[in-house]
Amino acid sequence: MTTRTSQGILSEDKAEKREEIIELLAKAYWMEMETVMSYLANSVNPDGVRAQEIRESLAEDIQEELAHAQQFANRIKELYGVVPGSLEFSAEQTFLQPPDEQTDVVHVIKGVIEAETGAIEHYNAIIEATDGVDFVTQDMVIAILRDEEGHRRLFEGYLREYEAEGLA
Ligand SMILES: [Fe+2]
Ligand SMILES: [Fe+2]
Repeated sequence: MTTRTSQGILSEDKAEKREEIIELLAKAYWMEMETVMSYLANSVNPDGVRAQEIRESLAEDIQEELAHAQQFANRIKELYGVVPGSLEFSAEQTFLQPPDEQTDVVHVIKGVIEAETGAIEHYNAIIEATDGVDFVTQDMVIAILRDEEGHRRLFEGYLREYEAEGLA
């Protein structure tokens, strides 16, 4: 049997790099899970006619963000990692807490933009960290990054409307 020249990221000598990627993926996993919680709450809480569009949009996103979390979890396992348990979770989305007034839709829109921006930054970092060493993770994260860019663009459009009317 000839020696295998390379098994890519799954080879023994790549253990350290795998650990690094798994850590980045675990952070991404938690970001998605917290986003699911935040979007669920914000798909229900807002009051008023104008809030309806935002509520529906976030209700749809919940499933998409959950699917992202599942993808991150599966990739952690494929890299010989273990998906962390709930006790390792620590919340960070201060900007997506319920506003004082439930008609404050601008607060929600800005919170969503901040969450999506955080995801976009982290996923770009993963794309860089995996470049040339783990194309499978990179490919997966590029696809997820596109979803997040789409989400952010959508909410930037909502914010633009409020700004145009002097409401934001
Ligand atoms: Fe996501
Ligand atoms: Fe998103």
